[in-house]
Amino acid sequence: MYLINFSLTVSAAHSKFPLSVTDWNILVLFSSTFPECQLCVLTGGALQIDFRPAFWRREAVQRIRTTRTQKIQPHSGALALFSVRFRNCCPDLLVGAEVALSVGGKVDIMSQLMRVITRKMSTSRAVEKVVVIGGGLMGAGIAQVAASSGFRVTLVEVNEQLVEKAKGNIQKSLARVAKKQFKDDEAAQNGFVATTLGRLDATCSLTDAVRDTDLVIEAIVENMKVKHDLFAKIDSVAPQHAIFASNTSSLSIREIAQVTQRRDRFGGLHFFNPVPVMKLLEVIRTPETSDDTYKRMMDFGQSMGKVCITCKDTPGFVVNRLLVPYLAEAVRLLERGDATAKDIDIAMKLGAGYPMGPLELADYVGLDTTRNIISGWHENFPENPLFQPIGTLEKLVQDGKLGVKSGEGFYSYKK
Ligand code: CAA
Ligand code: NAD
Repeated sequence: MYLINFSLTVSAAHSKFPLSVTDWNILVLFSSTFPECQLCVLTGGALQIDFRPAFWRREAVQRIRTTRTQKIQPHSGALALFSVRFRNCCPDLLVGAEVALSVGGKVDIMSQLMRVITRKMSTSRAVEKVVVIGGGLMGAGIAQVAASSGFRVTLVEVNEQLVEKAKGNIQKSLARVAKKQFKDDEAAQNGFVATTLGRLDATCSLTDAVRDTDLVIEAIVENMKVKHDLFAKIDSVAPQHAIFASNTSSLSIREIAQVTQRRDRFGGLHFFNPVPVMKLLEVIRTPETSDDTYKRMMDFGQSMGKVCITCKDTPGFVVNRLLVPYLAEAVRLLERGDATAKDIDIAMKLGAGYPMGPLELADYVGLDTTRNIISGWHENFPENPLFQPIGTLEKLVQDGKLGVKSGEGFYSYKK
């Protein structure tokens, strides 16, 4: 007995539910040898449903076989149970088949109730399609590495110009990775770049992008309100099974998730800059993150070749809780005139073995992001001296000196 969550294309002119809802629960009963498959469609309204053949690929069937769940009886009267029987039919035989069936019936059911039941019945579904929102420093890197690891990726930016900029940055970075991986083999380098780009789309159309995805990774500006607006907008459009993750450096994942109806399918995936180089991924679970979501996030991170560590939803998780106060202290040292920027950076590289000095690193991370992290923590923990605002940093950001990405920060990067 297996319970799975189907992704279906619903083409009903008179459906009671918005057509953007593409996840419907189907109860599939398999005997252990698959001599018979009973398919029960749980939905309401008069609908015409197309089963897309991709679902029946052999790997998908294999995965279902290992995803054992308990039988759930739908509340009679609340839901219609439509069932179709494929007698003596092994699902593998359906490879490539396009099964279209019409189901009739009229049930008065609130979409809210549907949602609750859907959530209860959702089960594991490995990540194949990923949407990355924000194509800046982090989003472009995450999209690139996900695509080169075999995932189908859509990157979302706010306008065409930024879409093009993100694509250009990805191409440059991919060329560096290809050169490193395939040394003098130019054909292999080109093949790697072309294959990766073939798995990557970039668009400004947010809602279209999330309509058919398994995982959304948000990497937009470090601001709670902006992140809330984004997640509220996509929650009703993305499939029920899809996991939402934020790449936030410092904000509470639980608080970001508040605006959604999928707090059990919400977590943190905190990557490090530059994403193609840094091996670490912090996987964050809130008290509401389900075991299944956590597992899917860990599997995804490992498939990207990252070393995953787990941390509770605490400010800055592990790395930034230690790193950002250190960066802030370096700016305060400079502000007090204790040492020059160059000497502070030399000191930490040669005296502590860091690959970059703290002011170089703040420029590399982005002074806007660094400033937003500190000011967000200051708002929440006003007594903590480590999180007090720093005049020098505020001024640089106000002047548009955001570090490497704007061409100037503590240092100049203008060519
Ligand atoms: N894409 C692909 N490859 C890249 C790359 C990119 N964007 N940037 C660097 N690389 C590769 C280079 O191709 C190079 O490869 P080879 O060794 O094969 O030549 C390698 O990385 C080293 O690069 P460089 O020689 O150009 O320069 P470097 O030796 O100074 O290394 C660095 C650059 C990897 C960035 C290194 O200085 C470093 O590790 N710095 C610290 C970075 C860090 O601390 N990141 C975390 C920031 S905090 C954060 O991300 C969390 C947050 O929320 C704010
Ligand atoms: P960035 O400024 O380089 O890029 C953010 C991008 O998001 C911009 O290109 C912007 O146009 C885009 N954007 C903003 N709103 C959007 C929306 N509604 N839809 C689509 N795109 C939108 O910022 P970044 O450094 O990539 O940081 C992104 C997130 O990752 C932040 O939460 C940050 O704290 C976190 N982070 C940053 C670093 C780092 O080193 N910079 C490291 C780890 C995590």
